[in-house]
Amino acid sequence: MADSRSAKRILVVHGPNLNMLGQREPGHYGSRSLADINQALTAKAAELGLALSTFQSNHEGEIVDTMQQAAGRVQGLIINPAAFTHTSVAIRDAVLLLQVPTIEVHLSNIHSREPFRRHSYIADIAMAQISGLGESGYLFALEALAKRIA
Ligand code: DQA
Repeated sequence: MADSRSAKRILVVHGPNLNMLGQREPGHYGSRSLADINQALTAKAAELGLALSTFQSNHEGEIVDTMQQAAGRVQGLIINPAAFTHTSVAIRDAVLLLQVPTIEVHLSNIHSREPFRRHSYIADIAMAQISGLGESGYLFALEALAKRIA
């Protein structure tokens, strides 16, 4: 494992309503809470020698602020923009500003639901989109980023 000074840093951003995971539409989003997912990510990051920070907000501007503050400080981004995936040019622009390998993650398969969920403002600027694999999608994203930024 790399020591904390040299470890590459990954930011994980969770968008609106993801604080309600575990209670919210379990048919789409499963029974794991956001704390469970963040804990699994933190454990996997330790295995991979990465430093991980997580952030959740229901507010678009707070997500943009956090990503601006991370510029130059992180080497990779995992983002589930939740409903903002389908609406937010501001979050797209913040991803572009970060200029780091980015993986977009969705717990549910956004391509098998309502038509408005099929469009993502992030997908074409991301390294990959992982959709429909639940918590595993975040863990696969972390492994893929670890390889990309090694
Ligand atoms: C989601 C899919 C979005 O369409 C939805 O608005 C969410 C969660 C997912 O993880 O499957 O809030 O991003």
